[in-house]
Amino acid sequence: MKKNYLEAAIEIAQEAGKILREEFDRPPEIAYKGEADLVTQADKRSEQLIVERLTKYFPDHGIVAEEGTGREGTSDFRWHVDPLDGTTNFAHGYPCFCVSLGLAQGDALLAGVVFNPFYNELFAAARGEGATLNGKAIHVSKAATLATSLLCTGFPTHKRAGSPNIHYYWDFTLRSHGVRRDGSAALDLACVAAGRFEGFWEFGLNKWDVAAGALLVEEAGGKVSDFSGAPYQLGGPMILATNGLVHEEVRGIALEISKRDPTAPLRR
Ligand code: IPD
Ligand code: CA
Ligand code: CA
Repeated sequence: MKKNYLEAAIEIAQEAGKILREEFDRPPEIAYKGEADLVTQADKRSEQLIVERLTKYFPDHGIVAEEGTGREGTSDFRWHVDPLDGTTNFAHGYPCFCVSLGLAQGDALLAGVVFNPFYNELFAAARGEGATLNGKAIHVSKAATLATSLLCTGFPTHKRAGSPNIHYYWDFTLRSHGVRRDGSAALDLACVAAGRFEGFWEFGLNKWDVAAGALLVEEAGGKVSDFSGAPYQLGGPMILATNGLVHEEVRGIALEISKRDPTAPLRR
């Protein structure tokens, strides 16, 4: 029998999570993919398990996996796999990391799972079926103003000096309850879905960072776009995900920042 996509993703994320949890207790073997872009044995072991299992369950599906061991498929289904999101945290012993698995058919996200094995928090969503945390329905927050919002963002590990984000970080910090920078985009998005943060934005993320998290936010009742308000396209140059209520206010301020500061374009 064909596996249900979400059930398969949950099972695989939990298995991969066991590997991460096991590796977390060992001294990390760190290698560098770029100036501040780390990769560990855990990223590779987790990806190997995920790709093997997805291939077994869905042989016709494509897999795009961060560490490069994915495969072409023969259908328009594609898994976007981040075997360890938050590698820098992981390598420093900071337990904010996860496995992120998102399934898309063409441009449409169908299922997503984000699992933090340290805190045993499993966020899951299927298109049209809502979002859950450890099996219980979750919803975005009801805060309606930026001034009463807690936001989060992240910074790239490549070409760091060229990122416009510090300008946005500074401004949004002064206009809100604060901006967290927690080092795992997938968990940041999951936290928007769970109502812990009112909004998240970041420039230059990859499809594997956001596929699952973007669906979680939408299914929890939130909104996902870019700063110009266009619907978010998977792999687009920037993402803004909010509870929906503060979306236009955040966008308006982003527009102001981009006009005031030529080194802070809305898109990069
Ligand atoms: C990173 C994290 C981080 C974000 C970076 C990503 P990785 O992914 O999601 O929060 O700010 O842009 O590259 O390298 O830990 O998988
Ligand atoms: Ca990532
Ligand atoms: Ca990763």
